[in-house]
Amino acid sequence: MQRIALLTSGGDSPGMNACIRAVVRKAIYHGMEVIGINRGFNGFIEGDMGPMNLSSVADIIHRGGTILHTARSEQFLTPEGRAKAYENVKRFGVQGLVVIGGDGSFRGASVFSREFGLPVVGVPGTIDNDIPGTEQTIGFDTAINTVLEAIDKIRDTATSHERTFIIEVMGRRNGSIALASGLAGGAESILIPEQPFDYEDICQRLLRGFRRGKAHSIIVVAEGASGGMEVGQRIKERTGFDTKVTILGHLQRGGSPSAADRLLASRLGAKSVELLMAGETRKMAGVKAGQVVGVDIDEALNESRPVDLALYDLAGVLSI
Ligand code: F6P
Repeated sequence: MQRIALLTSGGDSPGMNACIRAVVRKAIYHGMEVIGINRGFNGFIEGDMGPMNLSSVADIIHRGGTILHTARSEQFLTPEGRAKAYENVKRFGVQGLVVIGGDGSFRGASVFSREFGLPVVGVPGTIDNDIPGTEQTIGFDTAINTVLEAIDKIRDTATSHERTFIIEVMGRRNGSIALASGLAGGAESILIPEQPFDYEDICQRLLRGFRRGKAHSIIVVAEGASGGMEVGQRIKERTGFDTKVTILGHLQRGGSPSAADRLLASRLGAKSVELLMAGETRKMAGVKAGQVVGVDIDEALNESRPVDLALYDLAGVLSI
């Protein structure tokens, strides 16, 4: 393999740049050329791509976002879009592709690889930590630390004013960010899409705390479980408490990656190049039992990736 291409796709996540750096430098170390594709699969379709060298990835290991930019491509879902992308595979002499992104990006990449025979390897990059076949995704650790910092700050003002705060975090289909940050932040209740919840139970918990002299509370809500405003309103109606709502939104996706995310990104990025060099295709570089491994993408995507409900139960016990 002489020339590989690289793109980032889907929602950006902190550590994607560290991963780009690892892919580019590892490939060059082994004598390969690297083509960077801008704006995800949209840039692939439009031929918005060009050579990268050692300096292209200098001074990015600590930066959030992705220097290659990203997109959620509707066009790549169509056979016409993918055929256009294949024209650029031929035009740029690409022999293998690394896709850093989430499960949707991997599905598209896998279809493309089957259609045109191009070897493709995925690297899991998303703050949601919801990709089957890997224990951790690039960006999750930074995101939960960002949320935790916010929870700690909100706790200061919640305590001073004796208020109940509802903090809405990301996670449309998955509650891992809410679960990890809620447990680490000592939230009274954590609402996630995977678990049904009951306002009566949440309010009873708050009232019990109130009777013990606890005048402030934190409730963490994954956006996929309910809107924060709705939760705030419903609790206020039932308890009469002064509820305040903070929606953290996209700030959870930004920021300098944590040490854990930079390490993960560097290890998985390097592994993706090794997989291509070994002639593998439709693999994902992932982590299993702490080790970096190559996982079959199609098999992984057919599995589910449940959140750790033991954490949910533990949070319930510790916030009694
Ligand atoms: O997939 C990452 C993620 O941040 C989710 O947690 C969130 O639900 C979604 O992306 C938001 O997507 P967008 O930035 O496209 O609105």
